[in-house]
Amino acid sequence: MKKERFSSSIGLGSAADEPNSLQPADHNVQPRWQDVIKRRSFLQGISLAGATVTADVLLGKQLRAETTHSSRRLSKNDAALLRFAAAAELIEADLWQQYNELGGAQGGNPAYIAALSNLDGDMPQYIADNTDDELSHAAFLNSYLISRDAEPVDLDAFRNLPSSQATGAKNIGRLTNLLNLNVDLSWYRRYRSVQNTDFGVHFKGPFTISHQPAIPLNDADTPPDTIIPSASPQTPGSSFTGDAARMQAIANTAGLHFAFIEQGGSSLYPTLAFKAKDPEVLRILVSIGGVEIDHFGLWHDKSGNAVSQPLALITDPVTGLTFPDLNATNSELDQTNLILPEPCEFIDKVLPKCSVIRPTTTHNGGAVATIKAFTDDLLFLGQSPEFFTFVNRLAVEADSVPGGF
Ligand SMILES: [Fe+2]
Ligand SMILES: [Fe+2]
Repeated sequence: MKKERFSSSIGLGSAADEPNSLQPADHNVQPRWQDVIKRRSFLQGISLAGATVTADVLLGKQLRAETTHSSRRLSKNDAALLRFAAAAELIEADLWQQYNELGGAQGGNPAYIAALSNLDGDMPQYIADNTDDELSHAAFLNSYLISRDAEPVDLDAFRNLPSSQATGAKNIGRLTNLLNLNVDLSWYRRYRSVQNTDFGVHFKGPFTISHQPAIPLNDADTPPDTIIPSASPQTPGSSFTGDAARMQAIANTAGLHFAFIEQGGSSLYPTLAFKAKDPEVLRILVSIGGVEIDHFGLWHDKSGNAVSQPLALITDPVTGLTFPDLNATNSELDQTNLILPEPCEFIDKVLPKCSVIRPTTTHNGGAVATIKAFTDDLLFLGQSPEFFTFVNRLAVEADSVPGGF
């Protein structure tokens, strides 16, 4: 209360804007504030009332700078960067919403939630939060584009892909297809290697996930009331059978797919940011990009639980896919708890190795590379030629902006 009274007495809107030396516990704050004012040469010789108004004007100007943004029309190039980012976020939001409907904290498929929880008890919450993040990214980017007199991105015409028929999923048209994925796992060894894909090195994943669902297909395939054992040394994944094994394999695929998606975002945003000219566009790309990296770090950790004991060695009874125990090889390229990036070649091989996001070249991590990776993932399986034309045009426009590497 004391803080609020003080704030209003000097015309400030927020306690957060108060000078650090004036804490709520201070007694006689008004006299001390007068002392501060007296010490300031630019305010010397004017009355307290005048000083209050002057300070208010100065601080108000600062506040406005923090709460308003440029209204100048975005350049064509900066708009192209944000338009591709908006498209990528709409795609991300669409796939995360599907995961969230079935397996999020408010998700509707108990068996899928139980299987995801074998990867980590907090998986449903993380899925819900990641979904919120992507929705916020997409909404922000499009609103920002409009605010800078640039065209937003609308993919609604392409929301025609089928939903899961399983309990929990809404029966609505989708942009993305999670029912039959090829999950590229090359990121797994890329981040454990001292080599860098930007120097032309190609990585292979530690195993292959092809044509595997990452969400339940329907209740006949995976009944939502299937009892999923809690994975433990006594009930390892290798002992799972029938519907429980099928559902757990689907959840394991999801766990690895989460990391695949978010490592893509971790590389995409730097490649876009390098090209930004407008400081606010740079701020947006770096700030959202940081959250994509945060997502990747989280999912990288959780995905390791799908390929280590006790959950490893489960076999999907429908597709035959077995999730290996990646710790069994005793190789640092596979070890599941090595989730922080290994220092690698960067900029020039003569320089010391450095722990960095990679790739960050336009060719390897840019917009076109992102759409290609999503396409190879079969995330767009069933999409129309018009969809590919549209998103590839946005990608080429973003990658064609000068700058970057
Ligand atoms: Fe995002
Ligand atoms: Fe993301």
